[in-house]
Amino acid sequence: MSKQAERTVIVTGAAQGIGYAIAESFINNGDFVAILDLNLDAAENAAAKLGNAKGYKVDVANEEMVKSVVEQIISERGTIDVLVNNAGLQHIAKVEEFPLEKWNLLIGVILTGTFLMTKHVIPTMKKQNKGRIINISSAHGRIPDAYKSAYVAAKFGVVGFTQTAALETAQDGITVNAIMPGPVRTELIEKQLPKLAAEDGTSVEEALNHHILGKQWMKRLLEPSEIGATAVFLASDGAAAITGEGIGVTGGM
Ligand SMILES: NC(=O)c1ccc[n+]([C@@H]2O[C@H](COP(=O)([O-])OP(=O)(O)OC[C@H]3O[C@@H](n4cnc5c(N)ncnc54)[C@H](O)[C@@H]3O)[C@@H](O)[C@H]2O)c1
Repeated sequence: MSKQAERTVIVTGAAQGIGYAIAESFINNGDFVAILDLNLDAAENAAAKLGNAKGYKVDVANEEMVKSVVEQIISERGTIDVLVNNAGLQHIAKVEEFPLEKWNLLIGVILTGTFLMTKHVIPTMKKQNKGRIINISSAHGRIPDAYKSAYVAAKFGVVGFTQTAALETAQDGITVNAIMPGPVRTELIEKQLPKLAAEDGTSVEEALNHHILGKQWMKRLLEPSEIGATAVFLASDGAAAITGEGIGVTGGM
């Protein structure tokens, strides 16, 4: 990879899991990372562990908070080179039992959060005539799974939003792409297994095989760093002509 000056990278939901691993990959690439998370303590702890990083509190679904954190980062750093929209969460329930407030929460964080962060970062990227936006969708952005209606709807939505934002900014030096991870070894997966097992009336191991690994060719949970490596690639000079794409990093599905 060619040597380049330190860039300013924003990763949302980066206090743990895939977002943390994405932040680590960018720092290993020589970049500074703004770690944005709902949980400020966790964001600051993550930044302290990672080194060339700083933690910020934001609820990506809250436009005032998004606007103000983006302004703060611009005033501190001067530029925003890369935005990774990673914050997300899961809720497991049948459609007919899915609570509206959980539906609104998942759509709000995953889909509206991606929109709001992108909306407030694009003007700076347009001024720079340069920028990379990477949206963490999911294999569930193209394949459904039972009991995850809000998540699947939001992740399909992220793919449509990615294509539209890419089309609008294609002549401004900006690329917008989605990564569609398969099952990654994180809390998000570990927490949903007992609930999937309870819905199906099976063991946790059967739920892992049925819902998660059964459909995946490699039959292994992916490591968060494998998503980080793809994000760094999409933000590299070599990926300048890739825009509006949804890149599967699934282990085969
Ligand atoms: N784990 C997987 O197998 C998997 C697979 C495909 C896609 N994904 C996606 O990858 C992303 C990260 O998942 P993960 O497994 O690391 O999850 P995680 O639960 O380990 O981490 C999610 C992070 O997002 C933060 N967050 C939640 N709501 C927020 C909000 N409103 N504003 C700001 N931050 C918020 C949380 O505090 C947490 O730090 C999510 O978008 C998820 O849907 C995960």
